[in-house]
Amino acid sequence: MKFQPARGTQDLLPETAKQFRAIDDFAFAKAQTYGFEPITTPIFEFSEVFHRTLGESSDVVSKETYTFTDRGGESLTLRPEGTAGVARAFISNGLAQNLPLRFYYSGPMFRYERPQKGRYRQFHQIGVEVLGLETPETDIECVALAHDFLKGLGLADKIQLEINTLGDSDSRAKHRERLVEYLQKFKAALSPDSQVRLEKNPLRILDSKDKKDQELLMGAPALHEFLSVDSQKFFDKVLQGLETLGIPFVHQKNLVRGLDYYVHSVFEFTTTHLGAQATVLGGGRYDGLIEMMGGQKTPGVGWASGLERLALLTDPNFGQRPQLQVAVIAAEEMTESECLKISHELRNHKIRSETMLGGNVGKKLKRANKLGAHFALILGSTEMDQKVVTLKNLSTGEQKTVPRYELLQHLKI
Ligand code: HAM
Repeated sequence: MKFQPARGTQDLLPETAKQFRAIDDFAFAKAQTYGFEPITTPIFEFSEVFHRTLGESSDVVSKETYTFTDRGGESLTLRPEGTAGVARAFISNGLAQNLPLRFYYSGPMFRYERPQKGRYRQFHQIGVEVLGLETPETDIECVALAHDFLKGLGLADKIQLEINTLGDSDSRAKHRERLVEYLQKFKAALSPDSQVRLEKNPLRILDSKDKKDQELLMGAPALHEFLSVDSQKFFDKVLQGLETLGIPFVHQKNLVRGLDYYVHSVFEFTTTHLGAQATVLGGGRYDGLIEMMGGQKTPGVGWASGLERLALLTDPNFGQRPQLQVAVIAAEEMTESECLKISHELRNHKIRSETMLGGNVGKKLKRANKLGAHFALILGSTEMDQKVVTLKNLSTGEQKTVPRYELLQHLKI
């Protein structure tokens, strides 16, 4: 038996697990102030939910999905992202009557990628999706939520917002035609990946990190030259809205994103602090997705962010549990159950308390110190009979006897 976790996966030990949870809770609380509600969809779906929607030629589908046949002969795929599952749930549950809808989700995602810092095969996303609103104001609000959230995590100085528009499907089709015409001339000089993309999904070549590709792309017809009047207007409004809200951005004309379902706005919050894994949060508009999956035409926009990358950037103390206020210590075995009762009463008064169990008083005090408790409350049988406790302030070392009925007054920090 192998004892290490499978490649690209990791155990989240309490320190990291706490940090993930704190970031997730913080994001959800922020999203709630914007009217988002939680949704949870299955971790695996019928393969076509992802394969048809994210684009057969996208990296995620062509190289990275965990797809398997189950014992009943169904082809299933571990979810590589959350949007397609939410769209599927919207259709399966007949939610079209309740629009607009705002969903928040978090959970593990799976991509067979080459693991490195900030990139895993099992990773965790938090994400939001707004369904049923086709206005630029919705995009603005989505980006504003992302910005608000990242700023609240203390990341304002570490991130940059890049935004672009892919236009509507007409704009994209016209651009694609001219781009292919242009790139065909240089086909032999393109990187092998880009040569394949030229046949399957030429727009993705714009995203190439290959130096030579990038040089060739300098002279390529740019998407924004083919934008329809309506698409341009839509995008101008989004940018104006961001300016009004004081959200700094860079219009990154080559930003195309890796999934096929996007139209109009696409955006990424990037960082220079994570090496190659520069994208902390990414999203955009996907007005055709639900219809493509067989539902009624329903516009959508959203984003997702990887908790692993967020945790690497965020102060490790962010949202850590408040320090233990009282460590309750039984000096003798016979006072142990009374100690549990005291801890319970203290918690009812919203005081963080924990009964130190096991070992002698010395060991328990050591543990209380290690946990950073403000006070140690010690109870022996004499104290129990006299209805008092010994209270030790662990930072000053001061120790006093306090009547039980006065206890709360002495626990102020
Ligand atoms: P994505 O750009 O593929 O978009 O992923 C979003 C975020 O997930 C990335 O910015 C990154 O933080 C994190 N991420 C992706 N792959 C990995 C990995 N292998 N290891 C660690 N973190 C990773 C989506 O998934 C879209 N569903 C976003 C969206 C929602 N668009 C509209 N609504």
